[in-house]
Amino acid sequence: MTFTGDEPFELKKCIANGNFSKVYLAVKADSTQVACKVVKTAKMQREKVLREIFILNKLKGCKGIIAFDCYWEEPEQICILMQLCNRGTLAQRLKPKVGEAKVPITSEERIDYLRQMCDILMVLKNNRIVHCDIKLENILINENNELLLADFGLADIAGRMEKTSGSPNYMAPEFFDYTAPHPSYSTDLWAVGVTFFFLCTGGPPFSTRGTPLSLMIANVKARLWGSIEQRKVLSSKELTIFESIFTEHVDRCTPEQVKELCDDT
Ligand SMILES: Nc1ncnc2c1ncn2[C@@H]1O[C@H](COP(=O)(O)OP(=O)(O)O)[C@@H](O)[C@H]1O
Ligand SMILES: [Mg+2]
Repeated sequence: MTFTGDEPFELKKCIANGNFSKVYLAVKADSTQVACKVVKTAKMQREKVLREIFILNKLKGCKGIIAFDCYWEEPEQICILMQLCNRGTLAQRLKPKVGEAKVPITSEERIDYLRQMCDILMVLKNNRIVHCDIKLENILINENNELLLADFGLADIAGRMEKTSGSPNYMAPEFFDYTAPHPSYSTDLWAVGVTFFFLCTGGPPFSTRGTPLSLMIANVKARLWGSIEQRKVLSSKELTIFESIFTEHVDRCTPEQVKELCDDT
């Protein structure tokens, strides 16, 4: 067992089931509450989990990134201890769990979230990291309503990525064109655009419920985003932002430019 932490702790209850993991509330000997992500190495290759830990450690202390604490290995699983975020994810903010009140997201609040997501993209770029799975479920909210990016399970050093990974709704057109570049800072920005679109309209930009994957991919390639109903709820500022993000990768704007658009009145 490789335990790189100093303190013992106790696992309390499971707080979320991810695609590849279970996340538990854990309590340390000094009573601090932390989150413990348990990944079965049968589901996810050990090397990939260790890469996730390497990246979390590299980004330790960066604003907007979930704070890594320590990890240890057991015969069939790896446990990652990190800062606990009690206020859930952006997905839960949009669709609260049964019994929780739904607090509407105002237009100022979602623009503020977008600004924060752009700051996070800049942090990733400064550290040469591409996340590859930015989406509502992987963005946590802390008690100050600040966003923290989590789940570096598909992340890697820029330029070193394998092709095509992530969630279909969030994938940029170049993912579906086999002659185009690999995942990049720019494909992460596209995923931030999709996340922002969900926050504005409650749904994804390139599909509706029941849309076959092939049609969704055709819409992404043709940049056909937003139904008439979805566009109706968007402000002119939001429309401009989506036009600057949902483009061919060579024309796509940068996080800095998106932030300028956020500040335009
Ligand atoms: N630090 C944390 N604090 C609170 N909840 C968390 C934390 N990290 C993850 N979660 C919850 O657990 C879920 C799964 O974690 P994630 O790292 O995304 O794993 P997976 O790779 O299985 O998707 C997240 O969607 C979120 O709801
Ligand atoms: Mg996840």
